[in-house]
Amino acid sequence: MTKRVFSGFKPTGHLTLGNLLGAIMPAVRLQDEADCVYAVADLHALTVKHDPERLRARTREAATLLLACGLDRSLLYVQSRVPAHTELAYLLESTAYFGEMRRMIQFKEKSANQEEVRLSLLTYPALMAADILLHRADLVPVGDDQRQHVELTRDLAQRFNRLYGEVFVVPEAVHPQNAAKIMDLTTPESKMGKSDGSAAGTIYLLDPPAEVRRKVMRAVTDSGTEVRYDPEDKPGVSNLLTLLAVCSGRPIGSLGHQTYGALKRETAEAVVETLRPIQERHAELSADPAELERVLEAGAVRASGRTVELMDSARRAIGVL
Ligand code: TYM
Repeated sequence: MTKRVFSGFKPTGHLTLGNLLGAIMPAVRLQDEADCVYAVADLHALTVKHDPERLRARTREAATLLLACGLDRSLLYVQSRVPAHTELAYLLESTAYFGEMRRMIQFKEKSANQEEVRLSLLTYPALMAADILLHRADLVPVGDDQRQHVELTRDLAQRFNRLYGEVFVVPEAVHPQNAAKIMDLTTPESKMGKSDGSAAGTIYLLDPPAEVRRKVMRAVTDSGTEVRYDPEDKPGVSNLLTLLAVCSGRPIGSLGHQTYGALKRETAEAVVETLRPIQERHAELSADPAELERVLEAGAVRASGRTVELMDSARRAIGVL
């Protein structure tokens, strides 16, 4: 049977090379073999301090970029336009325990040393679980940092099914072989992220070529001079090798380099060439905002239609229908 796939992208900032290699490219590939649904998860961006106008703009930008990256053979929509996400999230909040939510690594990291922690930051994994379970997804293409949230989704699905009857498909995360965690270029011990990483160490999908080259050339390398893949001892060099391998489609083992400088130059060009067609397509699509609106509206209508049956079973099972 055709597998179902769901994944989401949170528009808290501009999409990054980490998003592209860790999740978007695998999501694009899955379109050939599965029934794919992807969403810009704008409600997830409300979990931390935000600016409404900027969120609207970034939601549009993320949707345009996902299409430009090739997610144009999937059902693509904006999460907030399909109310079933929040409805199901509440049923799952009523299935989850405070203790397990509090233990989520991302919650611990993002709430540490903050005075005003939004309650939605704590409950956010229930919304993410709802996103996935709503579409009866078998597979969830995500980077390494979402591993724990998909595990929680599995736990919630199994618990609900056990307590109230078989309603949910228990999903599985799929991670790309060598790009599950792209690291920040200036602090290669931490993930390259929209909000976690540093601006100098993060490559954004819309960075112009000169900016990409500058960031890669200034990437932190490690002591010594040997170019060798060793994430423990040489996190900076290993990250560059990963970028080069994934962007050029060559296995890491086949990449021989004399110097750090040569590695950086080749990596910069491979990244520029990977981003070039995406940026060109993004420019074309941006010229027609009405068409984007049409795609997103049609996507929301189709997605809403696909959630009716599942919501009905979930409500009936838990006793509110
Ligand atoms: P988000 O928006 O932070 O990231 C989107 C996707 O990109 C992956 N990713 C990375 N992969 C490799 N290296 C990196 N440096 C890197 N940075 C990000 C993430 O793992 C993710 O797959 N909560 C999710 C969005 C979401 C979602 C969902 C995902 C909402 N609902 C349902 C899957 C299923 C998030 O914040 O991802």
